[in-house]
Amino acid sequence: MTGWEYEDREYWERVYALPENYMVESAVTEGNDGEDEFDARMLEACVGRVVLDVGCGDGLFTIKMAERAKEVIGVDFSRIAISEARKNLANSGRKNLRFEIANAESLNFQKETSDLVTCRRGPVTDTKDSLREAHRVLKKSGTLMEITIGEHDKENLAQVFGRGQMLVSERVSTLKERLLREAGFKKLEVKEYIATEIFPTIRDLTIRLKNSPIIPDFNVEKDREYLEKIEKAYKSKKGIETPTHRVTIIARV
Ligand SMILES: C[S@@+](CC[C@H](N)C(=O)[O-])C[C@H]1O[C@@H](n2cnc3c(N)ncnc32)[C@H](O)[C@@H]1O
Repeated sequence: MTGWEYEDREYWERVYALPENYMVESAVTEGNDGEDEFDARMLEACVGRVVLDVGCGDGLFTIKMAERAKEVIGVDFSRIAISEARKNLANSGRKNLRFEIANAESLNFQKETSDLVTCRRGPVTDTKDSLREAHRVLKKSGTLMEITIGEHDKENLAQVFGRGQMLVSERVSTLKERLLREAGFKKLEVKEYIATEIFPTIRDLTIRLKNSPIIPDFNVEKDREYLEKIEKAYKSKKGIETPTHRVTIIARV
């Protein structure tokens, strides 16, 4: 059982249906969590390429890639996410991009049609089926680029709650490397980043816990005692401090 199996389509539809004030919290990152660095690498890699963005969410980053790529398709299994992405696309005016509802585990695309498969904290390496699909749609010279969440992410919170998305039995990088090799990927480049994320108030942390899968079945009322414990244990002058752990992967077909 991996930590992200409860993140099914219903889970993500509930998140995307949250009112807007539950979608953005105030938080700062101290140190390098790899996110900006890897975004820049993906934007470089997509120049002139046919790109498939798996688990594209609201599509805002997918649109940035389309500004440089030859053609981009963004897929997500959440209907609400794709409807948001299509609104964002209409506002962008881009013509070389489309968004489709699709499950990463069964993509309705011909084999060997993409130069680059990208995934930002999405499902592409979560299962053997999603990896098989990514491998199938990539051209022989194709590349997979993913930034995903590591096992130390928010681990102080998971310890207090006694449950957490990343309470996994194996290092994420080891698990993903094994799955990628089994799916036929080669020349793996895996990097890890650990930084500190600081939430100015417990309300900001509560919003994040509501709009992301960090703590399974998070419920503000039922989990109040854990939130109080976290505030006592991890609040510094800057706010509530928690580790952020990212794993970046570049793999060739
Ligand atoms: C953390 S969000 C990231 C969204 C976007 N990539 C970004 O960086 O803003 C993960 C996304 O993956 C999508 N997702 C999760 N599992 C999926 C699957 N099996 N097939 C398609 N999309 C999936 C969710 O609906 C969600 O939009």
